[in-house]
Amino acid sequence: MPNITFSSPIHKDKTVYAVAGSHTQTILKIAKDNHIPIDFSCEDGECATCMVKITPLANHGQRTDPMASRLTDKELVVLREHKKINAEDIERMRVEDVSVTPWRLACQMILRDEDLLVEY
Ligand code: FES
Repeated sequence: MPNITFSSPIHKDKTVYAVAGSHTQTILKIAKDNHIPIDFSCEDGECATCMVKITPLANHGQRTDPMASRLTDKELVVLREHKKINAEDIERMRVEDVSVTPWRLACQMILRDEDLLVEY
């Protein structure tokens, strides 16, 4: 199971070992369960309050290539509204099946089996 390191300029970094069954949980749920103070409001992918920057980490905490997990439809809309992605990015993600942005909505992103740095 993955380690999730939550990092903020105003809070101490905290690394959480995601337990079995967490593959159905969002980053926000894991943060809340571990008392990580990520801001949130709607919890439904509408407001962008929970926007975080995600960096996949290889073994030993080294940064690795961007992960290929798909953004949800709600993330595509909200990230475009906030100019974190554009129409070309969306098309590239659709055609090449890659993620072109580190920005995600913590209330929408489901954890996968990879270590992550989550900046909030
Ligand atoms: S809390 Fe509103 S988009 Fe995540």
